Amino acid sequence: MSTLRSRVRTPSAGRVAQRRAGRAICLALALGLAGAGPLPAGADEATRDAMRTILAAMARLVRLSADRQAFASPDNAAAITQALADVSDQAALLAEHTGPDDTGGEFLARSLDRYALWAKLGYERGQLDLARTLVQEAPDICVACHTRWPSAADAREKASLLSSAVSSPLPLQERARLLVASRQFAAALEALESLLASPAATPTDVEAIKLYLLVTMRVKQDYARAARTLDRFRDRAVITPELRGIAGRWIEDLRELADSPPEPGNLVSAEQWVERAGNSARYPRDGEALVAWIAASGLLHQHLTRNASASAAQVAEVNYLIGLTETRIAPDAWLPQAELYLEKAIRADPSSSSARAAYEMLEARVRAAYRGPDGDDLPDDVADHLERLKALIDTPAARGGKPRTSEV
Ligand code: HEC
Repeated sequence: MSTLRSRVRTPSAGRVAQRRAGRAICLALALGLAGAGPLPAGADEATRDAMRTILAAMARLVRLSADRQAFASPDNAAAITQALADVSDQAALLAEHTGPDDTGGEFLARSLDRYALWAKLGYERGQLDLARTLVQEAPDICVACHTRWPSAADAREKASLLSSAVSSPLPLQERARLLVASRQFAAALEALESLLASPAATPTDVEAIKLYLLVTMRVKQDYARAARTLDRFRDRAVITPELRGIAGRWIEDLRELADSPPEPGNLVSAEQWVERAGNSARYPRDGEALVAWIAASGLLHQHLTRNASASAAQVAEVNYLIGLTETRIAPDAWLPQAELYLEKAIRADPSSSSARAAYEMLEARVRAAYRGPDGDDLPDDVADHLERLKALIDTPAARGGKPRTSEV
């Protein structure tokens, strides 16, 4: 998606360095978790309790971090440390309550825990800018978890990270991000629709469109609404001809989904959407297949939650395909969810061709994530980890594996 990506605001160098560090921490976590054993089954009320505490603590942190001076003031030190400890504790509890097959959820909960701990440590050492950046990025973890699965209703709790958090009006996209992080999906969609309709906003901000599609498609399955919004967006005079063409393709796909919605979690439909999304003759321009990839990923995530008893080969395939869709939907994501699913695919059935395809993609991504200015600099433990995964697929038993059902 280079053409679309190049239009997105570039963060400052300091932020990039911190993101790299954050990504490395999360990556190490992702690489460790996929091999973890089964966890106790999820408990809904416990999850919601944890969420309410996390919401209250995060709201305090978002408010204080919006103002550099307030964040640095000794008067707020106790409140900030306590809130970070609360987020970390509750996220750790949440990780223990994720279901046995929810590696993705466990990873995100543990990432939130580590991130809050890292921010707390930074804060206590006086690294205030680091702590502030981490706090401001944390809602991305909430968004990633909340947009994985369908949800008919918004949070029971009407509070959000916004309500008490920020006094000055926020840009609509940031507002929407905090609303999705608080599971206020209806208000988030309204904010994003105003943004996409607003003559003042940059019409090319593909991150806003992506968030909008993740919520309308994966959470609400309201393809018709997304098609209508993008139709209006496409007709705006400021849109470049190239983006107008790409948006036209998104709208066509959304209309098709609206006319014949795939059965939730249906693996055959998921595979068809993956194959279609990967067809560059059908989608010659960068970013054109975005709707197709999101359609596939939504079906695959649903499939994972419904099919605990699937065969090892099928688990490997579904995890590989989720990893693949993640790399296409969010190629620059700082949360390494793709890597997690790819490793899970390798471990689920090392003899499968999904495992081999997953390993190739994983190795390339890990090398790219750690590549320093002087070339290849994989830390020893990461290099060892890759070696171990490679050894799994290279064992004689694994080499006799059958080809995958859907080659992409
Ligand atoms: C591991 C995945 C995960 C992460 C990470 C996560 N959440 Fe949640 N959240 C959930 C689930 C699951 C629910 C329950 C949804 C339901 O009610 O069906 C939920 C529910 C909520 C609710 C609604 C509670 C209610 O009373 O209905 C709020 C508010 C919330 N989360 C806020 C947050 C915030 C803020 C963050 C980040 C700081 C966050 N969540 C991170 C998975 C997650």
